Amino acid sequence: MFNVLSAYAGDPILSMQLAYRDDARPEKTNLSIGLYYDDQGRIPRLNSVQQARERVLRSTDPSMYLPMSGNPAYCKASQVLVFGADAPALHEGRIATIQTVGGSGALKVGADVLRKFFPGSQARISDPSWDNHRAILEGAGFVVETYPYFNRDTQRLDFDRMVADLKALQQETVVLFHPSCHNPTGADLSQAQWDQVVDIVVSRRLIAFLDMAYQGFGDGLDDDAYLVRALVRANASFLVANSYSKTFSLYGERCGSLSMVCANADEAGRALGQMQQAVRRNYSSPPAFGASLVETVLNDAELAALWRSELAEMRTRIQTMRSRLYEGLCVQQPDVDWAFLMAQKGMFGYAPVLAQHMMRLRNEHAVYIIESGRICVAGLNDANVDRVAHAFAAVLK
Ligand code: LMR
Repeated sequence: MFNVLSAYAGDPILSMQLAYRDDARPEKTNLSIGLYYDDQGRIPRLNSVQQARERVLRSTDPSMYLPMSGNPAYCKASQVLVFGADAPALHEGRIATIQTVGGSGALKVGADVLRKFFPGSQARISDPSWDNHRAILEGAGFVVETYPYFNRDTQRLDFDRMVADLKALQQETVVLFHPSCHNPTGADLSQAQWDQVVDIVVSRRLIAFLDMAYQGFGDGLDDDAYLVRALVRANASFLVANSYSKTFSLYGERCGSLSMVCANADEAGRALGQMQQAVRRNYSSPPAFGASLVETVLNDAELAALWRSELAEMRTRIQTMRSRLYEGLCVQQPDVDWAFLMAQKGMFGYAPVLAQHMMRLRNEHAVYIIESGRICVAGLNDANVDRVAHAFAAVLK
């Protein structure tokens, strides 16, 4: 019967994580999957989250199903974080938000809703993008093409070509944007560049779908959400997926949210209903525990302030490690201009590395990066950064 099933080639990022796990070399360094490690090379338990966990575990409430749309206090707190407490659209009731199974779950639910109501639309993702963007959108039934984003010769954003391409898209094309900390390149648009994109989205009536998985890891919580806020100001109708995996160090709890920003409250009510239906058809309702941790932190002034300071520490540590890698590479390979690395933001760096370099990094130096050349800078620390710079120089020379 199941003889017809074909083999799954595996996911490029998750397969690398498994290979790393099974590597017995003590010096192994994981710069592949997007995980934030602390300076001791551990996945941190944030103090704010730990305190919330203690409170939540004291509760003797039974474990009930959450509603299809998830924990209401979590959804409200997510809205404030994503859109800002003062967003007029929030007070006008025209943003519908649900709790989702991580950021990927938000992308899947959003893609299902869009596919149902815009069956003639195509989807566009940046070239390059996170591999799973294509997979999720295609899985929902979209034909997925790319828009120019990154120039591999200059190692910089290819903004002029991006804008020209967006201007030529059909109305109601679904366009996936990374508001900050672009995955995989770390190359972000400036606010002035986002303003131009917003004008195109509105004038061409494109459906912007934002994937904000790293809010706070670039320049800060509000700056990283600039595109979200600019689209709201421009009265665009759009979707935002967000994730707490990295910023709360809660990978396994699968905490995310999906918001649909609508023209008015009536439309938002229907958007909520459609998202609920998509959830019910996919997994019925989201899990409760992780969301209760995030909600407890965000809705308590003291814990929220502690979390914001822990987030700032993580951001600063990533920036420091980026500088250290840059300096190490400049010493190892003074003839190469590594300045592009310092222009990139967030967890990732993107290097002109080829598949054979990636394999040599892994086989000869126990340094794991993604085949595309993506380096998870958040996996570097004082103990490994010089060795990593040396390994890059050795395979690139
Ligand atoms: C990544 O890009 O490495 C993360 O978003 C983890 C994943 O699921 O791919």
